[in-house]
Amino acid sequence: MAVLVSVLQLAVSLSVFPVYLLHFLGLWNWICKRFFPYFMVRFTESYNKEMAAKKQELFSSLQQFAGPSGRLTLMEIGCGTGANFKFYPEGCRVTCIDPNPNFEKFLISSIAQSRHLHFDRFLVASGEDMHHIADNSMDAVVCTLVLCSVQNQEKFLKEVHRVLRPGGAFYFMEHVAAEPSTWNFFWQQVLHPTWFLIFDGCHLTRESWRALEAASFSKLHLQHLQAPLSWKIVRPHILGYAMK
Ligand SMILES: C[S@@+](CC[C@H](N)C(=O)[O-])C[C@H]1O[C@@H](n2cnc3c(N)ncnc32)[C@H](O)[C@@H]1O
Repeated sequence: MAVLVSVLQLAVSLSVFPVYLLHFLGLWNWICKRFFPYFMVRFTESYNKEMAAKKQELFSSLQQFAGPSGRLTLMEIGCGTGANFKFYPEGCRVTCIDPNPNFEKFLISSIAQSRHLHFDRFLVASGEDMHHIADNSMDAVVCTLVLCSVQNQEKFLKEVHRVLRPGGAFYFMEHVAAEPSTWNFFWQQVLHPTWFLIFDGCHLTRESWRALEAASFSKLHLQHLQAPLSWKIVRPHILGYAMK
C-alpha cells in the first residue's frame, strides 16, 4: 500500500509540475502567500454555508465566558478573512492575529460588515509567539481551520493557554485525519504533499485532537464528526472547546 501511495503522490506532483518548479526556484511561497487569501474568500463562502449550523451551535455558548462586565474579550488566531465574525455575540471585543499580512484587506472588509463587534486590533504574528498579548487577558480564544497549518501545535496551544484567563475557553473547529484504513485516509495520504504546497502549509493527515488532549486545559469538550462538506477529503472534523 505504501508503494502505491508513493506512486500516486508522484503522479499528483507531476500533474502540478509548475508549482513544484516555482517552489524549487524559491518563488512559490511568495506567490502562495499573496494568492491564498483570494482562494480563502471563495472557500469561506461555501464553507460557511455548509457549516453554518455547526458554527452557530458551537459559538452559541461563547457569551457564557464573558467577564463580570458582561462583555466578551475574544482573540481569533489565524483569523484569515474574518470568516467567523458573524457568529460572535453582540458587543464582543475582538483581537485578530494572522501571520499572513495579505489577509488584511479582506479582514478590513469583514470588519466593516460586523457592526455588532468592537475590534481592538489586528496583529501580524503567529500563534506560536503571541508575546504582544498579556497573560490571562482573554475570555475566549478561537481558531478554525488553523491547527492543520501551524508549525508547532504544542507551542501554539501553550500560548493559547497563557493568554486565556483562568476559566476562559479555547474554541476550535478543525479538519483532521480520516480513520486509518478508510479510502478517505488513503486519498489524504496521496494528496498530502501537493496539498501542503498549494494550500499554504495545510496538513491533511493531522490528528489534531491528540495535541488538544495533551495540552494543559482543565476540561476538554471535543466532538469528532463528518462535516457536511462537498470537499470529501476534509470532511473528518473535530470541534468543541477547552477550558483553562
Ligand atoms: C485555512 S486558513 C483559515 C482561516 C480562517 N480561520 C477560516 O476559518 O476561514 C488558515 C489560516 O491560519 C493562518 N496560520 C497559518 N499558520 C499559522 C500560525 N502558526 N499561527 C496563526 N495562524 C496561522 C493562515 O495565515 C490562515 O489565515
